Amino acid sequence: MKRILDLIADEMKSAFTACGYDASYAKVVLSNRPDLCEYQCNGAMAAAKAYKKKPIDIANEVVEKLSGDGMFSEINAVMPGFINIRLNTAYLADLMNGMAKEEKLGVEEEGHGETIIVDYGGANVAKPLHVGHLRSAVIGESVKRMGRYLGYNMIGDVHLGDWGLQMGLIIEELRDRKPDLVYFDENYTGEYPSEPPFTISELEDIYPTASGKSKVDEAFKERAQTATFKLQKGYPPYTAIWKHIMSVSLADLKRNYDNLDVHFELWKGESDAEEYIPWLIQDLQDKGLAYESQGALVVDVTEPTDSKELPPCIVRKSDGAALYATSDLGTIIQREKDFHPVKYVYITDKRQELHFKQVFRVAKKAGYVKPETPMIHIGFGTMNGKDGKPFKTREGGVMRLEHLIADIDEAVYNRIMENRSMDEAEAKETAKIVGLAALKYGDLSNQAAKDYVFDIDRFISFEGNTGPYILYTIVRIKSILGKYEAQNPGTTAETILPAASDAEKTLMLELSKYNDVMENAFAETAPHKICQYIFDLSNAFNSFYHDTRILAEEDKARQASWIALITLVKRVLEVCIQVLGFEAPERM
Ligand code: ARG
Repeated sequence: MKRILDLIADEMKSAFTACGYDASYAKVVLSNRPDLCEYQCNGAMAAAKAYKKKPIDIANEVVEKLSGDGMFSEINAVMPGFINIRLNTAYLADLMNGMAKEEKLGVEEEGHGETIIVDYGGANVAKPLHVGHLRSAVIGESVKRMGRYLGYNMIGDVHLGDWGLQMGLIIEELRDRKPDLVYFDENYTGEYPSEPPFTISELEDIYPTASGKSKVDEAFKERAQTATFKLQKGYPPYTAIWKHIMSVSLADLKRNYDNLDVHFELWKGESDAEEYIPWLIQDLQDKGLAYESQGALVVDVTEPTDSKELPPCIVRKSDGAALYATSDLGTIIQREKDFHPVKYVYITDKRQELHFKQVFRVAKKAGYVKPETPMIHIGFGTMNGKDGKPFKTREGGVMRLEHLIADIDEAVYNRIMENRSMDEAEAKETAKIVGLAALKYGDLSNQAAKDYVFDIDRFISFEGNTGPYILYTIVRIKSILGKYEAQNPGTTAETILPAASDAEKTLMLELSKYNDVMENAFAETAPHKICQYIFDLSNAFNSFYHDTRILAEEDKARQASWIALITLVKRVLEVCIQVLGFEAPERM
């Protein structure tokens, strides 16, 4: 369906052209003075310069042409040359009915199954997920769901950090703890056990201990580096340990991501890029792009249009080791080969901005990715505590994601139990659903690049710009629909009539923005725009609801129209929260 602003602009364009002015002046925007009008066109001001006329004269001519137009209830030229517009309620009701008939509620499916890679999550194997991973998971999942809704084949890859020094650290710490394991017996020639030599809780203890040791014990660190190197060269006993680390850690990561309702199509990682690296290094040299600098192999990435020079991208260190950038380039080669994506989106902490800039430029320069394929990095800001510093546990440690989720669920549970009578089991279930919404909406409602304050009390509030407020609105609609159905069994409410009040019209005007918002949020990779929209829509619904006695209405056609209207509100809200990555309970 066409967007409402374009529909109005089309009318405006024919009027401008009919009056002898160029159609490009006929742009229509939402009014910034809702007390005066709903939409406005400011084109007469710009046209005045080109046609050497007074803006108000042009505006008057255009308005004259549109005076009988059924789309508008009001169209006025006001000084110095604005055109103020209000939509006809009958036209708006038609638009609502058209929208309700469409499966996607008027959103154009711009994708036709083309593949887009979303690289998000970015967990590091053997390290527990902490709040820093939350943002990547939550934002990425939403970007993926948006694209899927718009018809793309979205492939989410968790892109694990599974190949770095942490592996050598674990191997050496394991050696210190369990020197008798067969993996450490150089004369061992048998098969390696299929049972992992540790549990997840041991593993979670092994890594931090090893990491701590490496900071004070140089010899230990060197051992870990050697072990990492040997693993990367395919030394069989270490490969066997690595596989155990992977299986134990992945099971735990999957459980955690499931709890977040975050799901990946691919569980690839840095280790999967390994096989492409020798070819990559050779190719970059053959193309004359990579050259030696202070023993390292680097590629220049600065472009003539840059205001300042970017540091070159290092693809091989002087000791021969590959780096983070190398593995990202290797991964791109793999993705091109396997998926032919039309777009890449990476979601990480914004401190990795330079890294991705370098990687994208090398990928394009070397021709691995077509010049027209967008490569986007969404760099997010820090989640802070109320003290404005990066969010920590009460003891000052890194907060584990699992604990954070448990805290928020508990807070919601207490809130539910305070307010209403719900049995404990239902309250627990509901708290999980509402808690996840609170957490995700609290994050997604901020522009990704900004830091934000993680404030449980605010996030779980049923009022204000929060996830629970949105859910509460949906639950309220469900409850009205349930009561209506009980009073009028089997009646189908289909036709939406022209609005009978200002609040009702405002609600319809909000609904009419839906396709624009959804399409635009995806184009700009900006889930916060969907949050802003559903907050506005919920507000418009709640004003209408407080204004209107739906269930007591005696005019049955009018009542059915309201039921159809709020059903549409519910559909829009439900799609939006689905895309944001959460759902609504039946009651709360
Ligand atoms: N594991 C990385 C980290 O914790 C994030 C990976 C992001 N994805 C990528 N393709 N580099 O910082």
